[in-house]
Amino acid sequence: MNPENLETLKQKAAHKAVKHVKDGFVVGLGSGSTAAYAIEALGEKIKRENLNLLAIPTSYQAFLLAAKHKIPVTTLEEHGIIDVTIDGADQIDPKLNLIKGMGAALAREKILASASKQNIIIADETKRVNALGENGQPVPVEVIPFAIALVKSKIEAAGGNPVLREGKGKVGPVITDNGNAVIDADFGVIRNAAKLEVKLKMIPGVVETGLFIGLATTAYIATTSKVEKL
Ligand code: A5P
Repeated sequence: MNPENLETLKQKAAHKAVKHVKDGFVVGLGSGSTAAYAIEALGEKIKRENLNLLAIPTSYQAFLLAAKHKIPVTTLEEHGIIDVTIDGADQIDPKLNLIKGMGAALAREKILASASKQNIIIADETKRVNALGENGQPVPVEVIPFAIALVKSKIEAAGGNPVLREGKGKVGPVITDNGNAVIDADFGVIRNAAKLEVKLKMIPGVVETGLFIGLATTAYIATTSKVEKL
């Protein structure tokens, strides 16, 4: 698919999701290129409908976009329950289990997803898979830098191929908004994502994994002909 069409699909899915936002809501703002369209659409909706709402960003990217689109922000300390979070994903399986984190925002994304009544995932059709881990998609794992070597060897022992994610526009590894590193762990097609999630979380030094199991409540997947609601 050409890149322009892909952007249109992301935008269409984002517009559907923003319809779930109502006056007075606390909204979780996802990260990535698809979530960015939702933040923009939310800013327009607030202005158009004169809504009174607060948002919690999942990353510095989302925080800056919220400021740009004049969306007032709050914190989990002030608002511990989020009405709806709108976020993208890297892969979505038929049960709405996800791989997230190619934008390195997985830890805060999962924290907000866990604090949300509704988690709406928006994506173009290229994100849909039969099983997580297909097509060489790795599982991003956020790791305390001190533990990188240990976590890599434990991932290898668990049958994965770990690669420390390198930064772009900076030498050395990617550093997350939490000051950590990201290891992309390729496990091939994942048969039991819930079990793998627990196994990875048990490794000392692992802060979070990009496996989002049973967290998404709705997904809008945009295809060239329609936006499917799952
Ligand atoms: C950010 O860490 C990710 O979880 C994103 O939600 C995911 O990578 C999707 O990003 P795009 O919408 O840019 O594909």
